[in-house]
Amino acid sequence: MILATVGPGEKIIVPRNIHRSVMGGLILSGARPVFVQPVVDPQLQIAMNVTTESVAAAIREHPDAKAVLLVNPTYYGVAADIAGITELAHRHGLLVLVDEAHGPHFHFSTELPVDGMQAGADIVVQSTHKILGALSQASLLHCRRQRISVPRLETMLQLTQSSSPNYILLASLEAAVRQMAEAGPELVERALRLARTARDRIQEIPGLFCFGAERLGAPGVFAHDPTKLAVTVSGLGIQGNDAEMWLRCVGKVQAELSDWNNVLFLVTQADDQVTVARLTDALQELSREHSGGAARSQALFVPLPAEETLLALSPREAMFSRREPVSFAAAAGRICAETVTCYPPGIPILVPGERVTPAVVQYCQALRQQGFTILGPEDPTLNTLEVVA
Ligand SMILES: Cc1ncc(COP(=O)(O)O)c(C=O)c1O
Repeated sequence: MILATVGPGEKIIVPRNIHRSVMGGLILSGARPVFVQPVVDPQLQIAMNVTTESVAAAIREHPDAKAVLLVNPTYYGVAADIAGITELAHRHGLLVLVDEAHGPHFHFSTELPVDGMQAGADIVVQSTHKILGALSQASLLHCRRQRISVPRLETMLQLTQSSSPNYILLASLEAAVRQMAEAGPELVERALRLARTARDRIQEIPGLFCFGAERLGAPGVFAHDPTKLAVTVSGLGIQGNDAEMWLRCVGKVQAELSDWNNVLFLVTQADDQVTVARLTDALQELSREHSGGAARSQALFVPLPAEETLLALSPREAMFSRREPVSFAAAAGRICAETVTCYPPGIPILVPGERVTPAVVQYCQALRQQGFTILGPEDPTLNTLEVVA
């Protein structure tokens, strides 16, 4: 999607909490990202989506940008006003790309956030395998022929895909499409009903909380997909990853992911009352088992430095430059050649091409002292950082 729309040195506006596949697209294309910060929910400590105002400000400050990429929705199911942002972007001559990895079911219910194509976006990619019935890796790419060159898109797909199509994956994709064409609205309605029951039950379990409609309208939360159940466990005095491990080993339920405060579950058309009851029973047991724990203080959270880091090189230039490891404590002033992220809130602290600031060094050191896990760098202890030589 990115390779077909932006080239080396061209600007693309992207949320800062993009998936690493988007960073991969930026590195392959040589495009220069203009980052928009998502809103961080102070209670849940997770990155929500971007506001229309922040995208509008990026368009104003970068009138030469060629495209804007939106995530619809985030892993936690939070959507931005993509119809409003698309209208704004088109008025300024920008293309709109949508990462709809977690939203291939949106099209089939008005209770869900609007899907990218319906919102007027130019090109949308969906991980059909995540939420619908296709086998792992099978995805759909939708595009509007008036604004996207299909021959160029095909050329770029050929650059990045195997030249030997996998007919097992393609057949599974056709089956998933057929299933949704024939029964999409009923299947999604069933998942929504099950998710509603699960959320109501979880809200009654002592020490647990599952965010949803009450957050609508808060900054960065234009819409929410209720089939995503993000269960906040800090009220039990435990961390999200401890809860995930307990649920796997004792409760025999596999979570989708966990972070410092939350464990995420997805309710899909593949679920039924039995699987949902299994989940809520396991959460009830988790709560009982940890009922003595004092609610964990949230003061551990360290806010990201407000100071903007500076993109000195495009991610591609930084990635393909000669690199060297340097002591992280002495990295200020150097150009980072890798991505450094911490959960929460899952927003990269550094991306390839950014100049490291003293505030970022201090921030990462504080995170490490408090026991947070740093993801991305070749040296996971972050004693050293890969920088441009
Ligand atoms: C927001 C987002 N975008 C893109 C992807 C990549 O999707 P896939 O694994 O189907 O390539 C993911 C995967 O988790 C994701 O969470």
